[in-house]
Amino acid sequence: MTTTTFRVGGDLPVRRLGFGAMHLATEPGPGRENALAVARRVVELGITLIDTAHLYGGGANEELLAEALHPYPDDLLITTKVGVARTGPGGEWKLDGRPEILRDQVEQALRRLRVERIELLQLHRIDPAVPPADQLGTLRELRDAGRIGRVGLSEVTVDELRRAREIVDIASVQNRYSLLDRTHEPVLDACEAAGIAFLPWRPVAPAAASARTAPVGAVAAELGVTPAQVALAWLLHRSPVILPIPGTADLAHLEENAAAERIGLERAHLDRLDPPDPHA
Ligand SMILES: NC(=O)c1ccc[n+]([C@@H]2O[C@H](COP(=O)([O-])OP(=O)(O)OC[C@H]3O[C@@H](n4cnc5c(N)ncnc54)[C@H](OP(=O)(O)O)[C@@H]3O)[C@@H](O)[C@H]2O)c1
Repeated sequence: MTTTTFRVGGDLPVRRLGFGAMHLATEPGPGRENALAVARRVVELGITLIDTAHLYGGGANEELLAEALHPYPDDLLITTKVGVARTGPGGEWKLDGRPEILRDQVEQALRRLRVERIELLQLHRIDPAVPPADQLGTLRELRDAGRIGRVGLSEVTVDELRRAREIVDIASVQNRYSLLDRTHEPVLDACEAAGIAFLPWRPVAPAAASARTAPVGAVAAELGVTPAQVALAWLLHRSPVILPIPGTADLAHLEENAAAERIGLERAHLDRLDPPDPHA
């Protein structure tokens, strides 16, 4: 059986199976009512890690979570991301890691989430147009000033992670990764070696869309579960530092995803999902 909790930054316990809020609708109307219900059900199900970002609606997603869940349970970690801004000439979203933008988005997030401190603040992307030391140095200053608790990164290479850690402690990395997309395996391995939380984004969609005849579909059928659940169970099994953040705006999918924590994959299942290397 895999462990169900992880301490982010070594000291902040969360349930490993989290939730990604990106798909929750924020515009007034039935979509928003559904989104509020989904967010509340997330907490009722005992999930204690919710991922959002300034990018998701320009802060509207953070506001929605506050409306649904504030005052927050003590054990809930809502982590947000900064560093993508609507600053292009046509008002389009683009990477923007300038210190003033990062500071402003953190202040906005504090206001929108109605908190004194953001316990885990992720840099959505390292902006190649701004020296990394300026971006990470700004986050270190915000941490030292108590505005944020810990710093995370997103979509980084092993080398970027190593260099970032020379500037500030890194508590988490959020890269795209799943049973069917292992590109960032070396980054996961680096996180595991350093005890850094690894939050794979897009953890279920590829498996949910895969053919029933694919190995994930066959294993799911045998266990009487869904391919999405197998993909989540596999992630939880793959490494103790993995904290998947599946996203859904569908209550039934949410229940399904949360239940994946209880699925035990046997060696034979794992071998089919991950065929042994014939050259090993
Ligand atoms: N750091 C980054 O750059 C980055 C990029 C993208 C996303 N993220 C974060 O990662 C989270 C997850 O990523 P993601 O949303 O791209 O991918 P995902 O969680 O793998 O997939 C979400 C999609 O799969 C569907 N889905 C969810 N559970 C399902 C189930 N049990 N069965 C069938 N379909 C299911 C959802 O539709 P329904 O609503 O119909 O269920 C939605 O279309 C996001 O919410 C966001 O917080 C981060």
